[in-house]
Amino acid sequence: MEEYRLEKEELINNVKAIIDDNYPLYSNLSSVVCLIKETFDDASWAGLYIANNDMLYVGPYQGSVACIVIPFNKGVCGKSAYKKQTIIVDDVNEFEGHIACSSKTKSEIVVPIIKDDMVYGVIDLDSERYSAFDDDDAKILEGIAKILANLFYEDNKSN
Ligand code: SME
Repeated sequence: MEEYRLEKEELINNVKAIIDDNYPLYSNLSSVVCLIKETFDDASWAGLYIANNDMLYVGPYQGSVACIVIPFNKGVCGKSAYKKQTIIVDDVNEFEGHIACSSKTKSEIVVPIIKDDMVYGVIDLDSERYSAFDDDDAKILEGIAKILANLFYEDNKSN
């Protein structure tokens, strides 16, 4: 049987296709994380941290067990949420304050999920390869973050 591969260029369309407003938030988020992990061959871990009172709590993810809580401004995830910016880390050893959930992780990308200037969480991808993520990946994940942001409402708000 021919192997079925999800292409990065198609990811945003696949995300739009899988999301259904009639389903609970966790169902949509879990499905999107699955699509991301299957599309990013280089990702050893892909998942979401969801914001609540300036803390990030682990949400749906695929990969080995991860830390559960990350305060805003701590680690790559917390920095991304605090600064409201995408962060690409080519070598996690060079990132001060990086939180190592797996000693095998070499590089990482974190994209904040923002709507109306409010941070609802972050998308986090880790890789066991150095420099696994680039600006094109950032653009794709930022597109997904925009779609995900629309699934959240202000009572999920973090700040
Ligand atoms: N490395 C992240 C922590 C989350 S794990 O990578 C899944 C960070 O520094 O925020």
